[in-house]
Amino acid sequence: MSAIADRAVKSGGPALLFERPEPGRLRQAGVWTRPTGLLPGPGAAGVPVAMNLFGTERRMCLALGVERLEAAAARVRDLIELMKGPGPSGGGLLSKLSLLPKLQELAGIAPKVVRSGPVQEVVEEGAAVDLLRLPVITAWPGDAGPFITLAAVVTKDPETGARNAGIYRMQVLDGRTTAMHWQLHHGGAAVFRKAQALGRRLEAAAVLGGDPVSIYAASAPLPDGLDEFLFAGLLRGQAVELVRCCTVDLEVPAHAEIVLEGYVDPAEPLVEEGPYGDHTGFYSLADRYPAFHVTAVTRRRSPIYPTTIVGRPPMEDYQFGHATERIFLPLVQAVQSEIVDYHMPPEGVFNNLLFVAIEKRYPGQAYKVAAGLWGLGQMSLQKVIVVVDADVDVHNPAEAWWAALNHIDPERDVRFFPGPADVLDHASRAPGFGTKMVIDGTRKLPEEGHARPWPERIVMDPAVARAVAERWRELGLA
Ligand SMILES: Cc1cc2nc3c(=O)[nH]c(=O)nc-3n(C[C@H](O)[C@H](O)[C@H](O)COP(=O)(O)O)c2cc1C
Repeated sequence: MSAIADRAVKSGGPALLFERPEPGRLRQAGVWTRPTGLLPGPGAAGVPVAMNLFGTERRMCLALGVERLEAAAARVRDLIELMKGPGPSGGGLLSKLSLLPKLQELAGIAPKVVRSGPVQEVVEEGAAVDLLRLPVITAWPGDAGPFITLAAVVTKDPETGARNAGIYRMQVLDGRTTAMHWQLHHGGAAVFRKAQALGRRLEAAAVLGGDPVSIYAASAPLPDGLDEFLFAGLLRGQAVELVRCCTVDLEVPAHAEIVLEGYVDPAEPLVEEGPYGDHTGFYSLADRYPAFHVTAVTRRRSPIYPTTIVGRPPMEDYQFGHATERIFLPLVQAVQSEIVDYHMPPEGVFNNLLFVAIEKRYPGQAYKVAAGLWGLGQMSLQKVIVVVDADVDVHNPAEAWWAALNHIDPERDVRFFPGPADVLDHASRAPGFGTKMVIDGTRKLPEEGHARPWPERIVMDPAVARAVAERWRELGLA
């Protein structure tokens, strides 16, 4: 299944539904053990598996209910416009009035708790819980076992009650236990640290399937305390319906397929997690993470289990990151107005490479922009930032490198800074800590040590180019 999904996503292929997945074998500690005994769980043929749901930009747009990702970004931009005062940057009163319908729409986007939902058609508690009945796949030969990969894990801040949702992989350890891989810099880990400090268990619910906007929203790097389901409501223009969980004090999307309710206990020793074929294209080494104890499985009568595999890019997760890149651009621009555009190409696995184009107005601005980005949430993990002028198309890495490399004097224009590194960065000098590089590929000003003029780009005379295009066939070159 993972080989099919790998090939499908890399060739722009379709979403996949495996209607009758066959039992696999559990591979633990390097040996293949008994077959997982995959149920003919719910329904006689077992639980169907959906993969590659978000595998193309087109399908991500379908999932978000927009024609283009820019339309989703426009919702965020409108919200920012609403918050700006009148004046040259905020627009006049008339333009504010035109936003009134948006305000009305906003009133209806907060998540709504409803009494019941399809995700609780069946409730299995206590001894009835058996994760081995779920078709959780082992994607790569060196994986430590089967991993649940597309679950939105919901928790609440034990002090403020603020909800957090993030997609964290969960290695199935036995029928009732998984590991919980919330990385150091992510919201889930922060909530866990709070519970640890208070000496309390932390309840969690892993949501599989349901409204695709909510699945995307769980992957979005929202500021702490901002509810992912509220953000999903903003993107959908409609509230997400939630139901209360059966065994924990949390709410989950009512229209999900399956929910695993349970808890992590900070007082317990951490468990070994991984190795895992990761989104960098390399195996991440085994490490220690909290154990998640499942107290209940709630589900639809005949649920579909959604999953994804990561590996050498491009993979399905690129579409999640790319959607975030587009949707969060207005927020980034609200803080740094000189940013014209930015782009994280797939081979940079989000944290390794960011091209950013700026409207340069003063000396040192490339460093100001890079430092500002490093101060923004998960952007803090960005390893290499390449700053270019506004006339460069950052969505074309060949053009961005061409311009940047032509415009640098390396000793002057490449700088290194220490900072947090992504936990999955296997090259940083310590886990979670390393150096970052900024390449100032803009045209430098005299104050920046460049006294010479900058040459023009070479462009063919438009009239000549047009004439050639018209005569192309006649020249025998078509
Ligand atoms: C398919 C997929 C798998 C992911 N797996 C993990 C993971 O195992 N651990 C993790 O910390 N983040 C993982 N992420 C990234 C987080 O979901 C993302 O950074 C999110 O913003 C975290 O939310 P938080 O800051 O609220 O915790 C994954 C993202 C996707 C799209």
